[in-house]
Amino acid sequence: MLESRLLSRINRKQARVGILGMGYVGLPLAKSFCSVGMPTIGFDIDPRKIKMLKAGKSYIKHIPNGAVSAMRSS
Ligand SMILES: NC(=O)c1ccc[n+]([C@@H]2O[C@H](COP(=O)([O-])OP(=O)(O)OC[C@H]3O[C@@H](n4cnc5c(N)ncnc54)[C@H](O)[C@@H]3O)[C@@H](O)[C@H]2O)c1
Repeated sequence: MLESRLLSRINRKQARVGILGMGYVGLPLAKSFCSVGMPTIGFDIDPRKIKMLKAGKSYIKHIPNGAVSAMRSS
């Protein structure tokens, strides 16, 4: 069944998480998923945010640049 297959993939950390909007909610959420080893993809339409994330930089005060770099390499 679909639910049990999805649950199994989540438990094995093989399910891919997609987050729409990398703002005050999305970026910390992405950080949380990355910190437990879930493959995570963030989407945003703001070119400034995309550019900063690609450069390993944060635009949210309580998330340091190093956390963004770690997320990119996880
Ligand atoms: N921040 C909070 O404390 C809070 C609390 C409750 C609910 N919410 C809700 O959560 C949502 C996100 O809040 P936030 O504070 O992170 O906002 P935010 O403005 O910080 O981030 C939203 C992000 O979504 C991006 N975006 C907009 N349209 C998009 C699209 N079509 N595709 C991809 N990305 C897109 C924006 O560029 C922006 O980076 C909002 O609906 C808000 O009302 C936020």
